[in-house]
Amino acid sequence: MSYQTRSMQYLMPHHLLFTLFLFAIFSANHACNQIERNSLLSLPFNTSSPPLNWSSADCCYWEGISCDDKGQVTHIWLPYKGLRGSMSPSLGNLTYLSHLNLSHNSLLGHLPKGLFLSLNQLMVLDLSYNHLFGEISGWPASVQIVDISSNQFNGTIQSLFLQRAWSLIELNVSNNSFTGSIPSYPCINSSFIRLLDFSRNLHGGQIPSGLGSCSKLKVLRAGFNSLSGLLPHDIYNATWLEEISLPSNDLSGPISSDIVNLTRLTNLELFENQLSGKLPANIGNLSKLKYVILHTNFLTSSLPPSLMNCTNLIELILRFNLFEGDITTYNFSSLPQLTTIDLGFNTFFGNFPISLYSCKSLRAIRLSYNRLEGQIQPEVAQLEFLSFLVLSYNRLTNITGAIKILIHCKTLSVVLLGGNFLYEAIPTDDSIVSSNGFENIRFLGFGDCQLMGQFPIWLSKIKKLEVLNLVSNRITGSIPGWLSTLPRLFAFDLSNNLISGEFPKELCALPALVLAETLVDNNYLNLPVFSARDGTLGQYNVLSNMRQTIKIANNSLSGNIPIEIGHLKLLRQLDLRHNNFSGNIPHQISELANLELLDLSTNRLSGEIPSSLSRLHFLSRFSVANNNLHGPIPSSTQLQSFNASAYEGNLGLCGPPLPHGCTNTVSTNEDIEEEEENGPTIPWFPISVVLGFIAGFWGVCGPLLYKFMSN
Ligand SMILES: *[C@@H]1O[C@H](CO)[C@@H](O)[C@H](O)[C@H]1NC(C)=O
Ligand SMILES: *[C@@H]1O[C@H](CO)[C@@H](O)[C@H](O)[C@H]1NC(C)=O
Ligand SMILES: *[C@@H]1O[C@H](CO)[C@@H](O)[C@H](O)[C@H]1NC(C)=O
Ligand SMILES: *[C@@H]1O[C@H](CO)[C@@H](O)[C@H](O)[C@H]1NC(C)=O
Ligand SMILES: *[C@@H]1O[C@H](CO)[C@@H](O)[C@H](O)[C@H]1NC(C)=O
Ligand SMILES: *[C@@H]1O[C@H](CO)[C@@H](O)[C@H](O)[C@H]1NC(C)=O
Ligand SMILES: *[C@@H]1O[C@H](CO)[C@@H](O)[C@H](O)[C@H]1NC(C)=O
Ligand SMILES: *[C@@H]1O[C@H](CO)[C@@H](O)[C@H](O)[C@H]1NC(C)=O
Ligand SMILES: *[C@@H]1O[C@H](CO)[C@@H](O)[C@H](O)[C@H]1NC(C)=O
Ligand SMILES: *[C@@H]1O[C@H](CO)[C@@H](O)[C@H](O)[C@H]1NC(C)=O
Ligand SMILES: *[C@@H]1O[C@H](CO)[C@@H](O)[C@H](O)[C@H]1NC(C)=O
Ligand SMILES: *[C@@H]1O[C@H](CO)[C@@H](O)[C@H](O)[C@H]1NC(C)=O
Repeated sequence: MSYQTRSMQYLMPHHLLFTLFLFAIFSANHACNQIERNSLLSLPFNTSSPPLNWSSADCCYWEGISCDDKGQVTHIWLPYKGLRGSMSPSLGNLTYLSHLNLSHNSLLGHLPKGLFLSLNQLMVLDLSYNHLFGEISGWPASVQIVDISSNQFNGTIQSLFLQRAWSLIELNVSNNSFTGSIPSYPCINSSFIRLLDFSRNLHGGQIPSGLGSCSKLKVLRAGFNSLSGLLPHDIYNATWLEEISLPSNDLSGPISSDIVNLTRLTNLELFENQLSGKLPANIGNLSKLKYVILHTNFLTSSLPPSLMNCTNLIELILRFNLFEGDITTYNFSSLPQLTTIDLGFNTFFGNFPISLYSCKSLRAIRLSYNRLEGQIQPEVAQLEFLSFLVLSYNRLTNITGAIKILIHCKTLSVVLLGGNFLYEAIPTDDSIVSSNGFENIRFLGFGDCQLMGQFPIWLSKIKKLEVLNLVSNRITGSIPGWLSTLPRLFAFDLSNNLISGEFPKELCALPALVLAETLVDNNYLNLPVFSARDGTLGQYNVLSNMRQTIKIANNSLSGNIPIEIGHLKLLRQLDLRHNNFSGNIPHQISELANLELLDLSTNRLSGEIPSSLSRLHFLSRFSVANNNLHGPIPSSTQLQSFNASAYEGNLGLCGPPLPHGCTNTVSTNEDIEEEEENGPTIPWFPISVVLGFIAGFWGVCGPLLYKFMSN
């Protein structure tokens, strides 16, 4: 590009013919071809800010543009430029274009029909992360890399789409709205394909056979679709495969033992399907395996011992299956890279496997809902990165020993041990936890243990505690006021204990429920935690997604509900049912503007329902049944939307939704008897229904839930 060319163009911009003549002369000098320039300028792109630097005369020097030595535009490389506008047909005039990258912009609209067919030099096309939609009509044969992921393209991936793309190496159409089956024809005639990503679309039907002909295929992803049927057998012929990722589909049948032919495999991700059968006995031949993520299937039998030959394993996630067997027979010590093991919700038995303690990289262990016995051994403290330890609902013993040992695991953040240690004494010795013990614990659970004793004072030293579950124990005495000294505590469940005394006023000063400005840690947990919610299994990947909760149901608390309760502005669930609370319902409860659950049923509350309660617009579960309330039920769209059962068992309440109006306040004894026969009416899903749901779903027996926070 000479200075001369540019200045001439500049001086004589109107004389098109002459300019073209000059181009003929100077074309060898890498000057921007005028046709190309006009095509570029007619692209309806504009940016928010800063604008594209497309002002100079020679378009070959424009931002994001490069030319070949004939001044023909070959590259448009404008990712992350804040481009708006649409894909225009004039792009099709840039017939020398080989690389087009417009990813991560805000381009909107259809692709003009046949747009790319004239671009028969095009090799790289990246339109990912835009807002393009409609159907796609074809690619030139030259194309090697196509990434149109994360748009809203729809329609089927017709054969037309690829039939000419013999050079295709990578195809990523994930995160769109494509329907129909996934194609295997890219494999029929291409020996180059390395990557196919069809995930997060609306694909259905079976996975076609033919993918096995993709002899160089390394990555196959088609997760989060509705694919059904078996894994096609010829897939095991694609021996270059490193990653098979087909999670969240309806795939069924077994994983064939021919999978051992895929000796390069590092990722096997087939979770949330309906796969059955055993893991192939020879899976240990896949020595490169790093991620084996097969949770939520119907896989059966014991784990093949050869699995321990997969010495590069990093994550082994097998929860929610039908695996069984003596866990002590596995020698995990050959897995030095293992960071995450999740065998929860299966039927393993035996003692806690000591060999696991030699996996020095471990950060997360879930063995909950199995039949493990024995005690937590001191060797667990060798796991210097251990952050997540969930062993609930097994048959472990010696809680005092467990705490004395776990106190040495400095990095622990989530510790759920509920449903073990049945009828043991709560370790109340204050010195069991030193002042900096459990310094990183955020979520602690000992629910469903029937532990006996007083509320343990050492809990007051766990200053980062956010969520505490002590549900279903035999804790006596009163609720300690020092709970409010835990600056981050935002949810606790003390239901189903033997707690007496009053509701401590200090609790109404819990910082994390009072101050909007509390620190929220949005980091992902190493593994999700589960809890029953609305009859489904709630999954929490981030602790701060749990509700702000105070649950003290089924105890013997008495006295008034303190009026200071109105300070807990962030509270979303307040469950005080089945206690002996008396006095009025403080109208200050209506200051809890975020409240979604309010259950005051089966107490001895009297007076009227404060009319201000009608201000609680988020309330979705509510009951004041079985108290001594009287007077009209305040009318509001909210309070009348609940069943009459939310108000039953109060002799003096009247008005809708109760059948009797306020002029006729006589309530018949029949109502009350019926109530008692049916047991207390709880306006949300009883846990047993949840259990039935899970048991039916995964065929696992026994109580399957972290009952905690079972909203
Ligand atoms: C962007 O383009 C639209 C129409 O395509 C136009 O109305 C708008 O003024 C342009 N904005 C800028 C900053 O050029
Ligand atoms: C715009 O691009 C030209 C080259 O075409 C360059 O000389 C100039 O510095 C650029 N301006 C800005 C603001 O980047
Ligand atoms: C580009 O192509 C469009 C239609 O595809 C045509 O109408 C237009 O004249 C062409 N523009 C230039 C600058 O060649
Ligand atoms: C397009 O550009 C983005 C941002 O630089 C880059 O991450 C991406 O790999 C590019 N696409 C292709 C196909 O090279
Ligand atoms: C395909 O694109 C999505 C983003 O849209 C990205 O997350 C994914 O990793 C890509 N697939 C492959 C196999 O690289
Ligand atoms: C899917 O696409 C949307 C919109 O482009 C984007 O916000 C989202 O992050 C993408 N999801 C994944 C998993 O890549
Ligand atoms: C694709 O989406 C467009 C609207 O975005 C719609 O008009 C069209 O019918 C859809 N095509 C198919 C095959 O679903
Ligand atoms: C396979 O590719 C060759 C070019 O490499 C082409 O001539 C032939 O028609 C293709 N066959 C099919 C079935 O697509
Ligand atoms: C696997 O490939 C071999 C030859 O490469 C072929 O004979 C066999 O039929 C293929 N198996 C399947 C299931 O396609
Ligand atoms: C896997 O390898 C074995 C032995 O080499 C062979 O018999 C079998 O056919 C292969 N399976 C597939 C699907 O290629
Ligand atoms: C693990 O590998 C070793 C050596 O490669 C082999 O001797 C042993 O049989 C394998 N174990 C299992 C259970 O496959
Ligand atoms: C409980 O565990 C502690 C610490 O490991 C141990 O010293 C104690 O003997 C154990 N108690 C019982 C009853 O096993």
